[in-house]
Amino acid sequence: MIQSLIKREQKRQDTKINMIASENMVSKNVLKAMGSCFTNKYAEGYPSARYYAGNEIVDCVEEYACDLAKKLFLCEHANVQPHSGSQANQAAYMAILKPGDTILSMSLDAGGHLTHGASVSQAGQIYKIVQYGLDANGVIDYAGIEKLAKSTKPKLIVAGGSAYSLVIDFERISKIAKSVEAYFMVDMAHFAGLVAAGFYPNPCKFADIVTSTTHKTLRGPRGGIILCREELAKAVDKAVFPGVQGGPLVHIIAAKAVCFEEALQPTFKTYIKNVIDNTAYLCKKLQESGIKMICNGTQTHLFLIDLTDTDKTGAQVSQDLEDKFGIIVNKNKIFNDKRSAKETSGIRVGCAFITNNKKVDKNVLEEIADCFKTVILGTSAPKIKLLKKVFK
Ligand SMILES: Cc1ncc(COP(=O)(O)O)c(C=O)c1O
Repeated sequence: MIQSLIKREQKRQDTKINMIASENMVSKNVLKAMGSCFTNKYAEGYPSARYYAGNEIVDCVEEYACDLAKKLFLCEHANVQPHSGSQANQAAYMAILKPGDTILSMSLDAGGHLTHGASVSQAGQIYKIVQYGLDANGVIDYAGIEKLAKSTKPKLIVAGGSAYSLVIDFERISKIAKSVEAYFMVDMAHFAGLVAAGFYPNPCKFADIVTSTTHKTLRGPRGGIILCREELAKAVDKAVFPGVQGGPLVHIIAAKAVCFEEALQPTFKTYIKNVIDNTAYLCKKLQESGIKMICNGTQTHLFLIDLTDTDKTGAQVSQDLEDKFGIIVNKNKIFNDKRSAKETSGIRVGCAFITNNKKVDKNVLEEIADCFKTVILGTSAPKIKLLKKVFK
């Protein structure tokens, strides 16, 4: 049964046009490491300090993965055990905060993540959450962060998000954090690949603690990491295990190491540059046709379409794109959205996945743009020639 479902899913991934900004396609070697015998091993603890025997080879894997993460992101300490981005964030908070402490973070509808303190998340229930948003241009409201930091005296300021398309000014937020003696954390889950390739400022230069997923632009296995300076290393490790997790997923740690090896190669730089170029090109084509963007554009692997001037909801647009053209996107709330999360007034679009397909070029992107225009603006049905050949 499962074998046939795997085949069906592979076909779906090969033939649909996946523009979900948080997804990517791993290499055969990453996939191989995930499916390796390391899945059979228990390894509670850390290298040379395990609570299970038989970990001499596992220790080499974890040490190697940590060394590569440190080399890739130029940081002093790396913990590669978090099972996911959410658990990385949970552990990062636990390392530096006490229940009831105040976190100042970006709200969900401004592009932040659930784990940054939404009321339904664990963080929202354990900590006191104050949230910042966007200014009139759709840019992070840095002046608002400063004001809120001064008035609420948070213990932690969080930057980073799931649907923000511009480069974040880490230096500015870090200065604000210092001025109120708060820790500064960056969740680089979305743009970690851009950081690794040198196309986005490295948050490790500015933040006390950096969390990430490894499966978005970084193009690795599903999982999380935490990076920090040596002085927070012990607290971070303790928070991951035994704080929020039990045994690490050693097969995933092995796959993270393969992903870091790949991200250190010049070919990864080329891939990320192509992701950014493709995203910018598609975004520009849509803007030229009159489609509105939050932040008025993009500097990253994603952009957020603003549908408020149209008669369409995000839910309708995403359904139509899939039904008519096989294009898969997320409906996404926009800042101060009047619609619910089920309907939304936004569509999040990313090019990390499709850029793995070497046949995706400007002509292909123009056909994709025409599909969006048909669905959002009601223009006549596009002539689909290339898409059928490229995604078959
Ligand atoms: C910014 C950010 N942080 C954390 C996460 C959570 O990652 P995971 O789904 O691996 O728990 C996400 C996932 O979408 C994210 O976008």
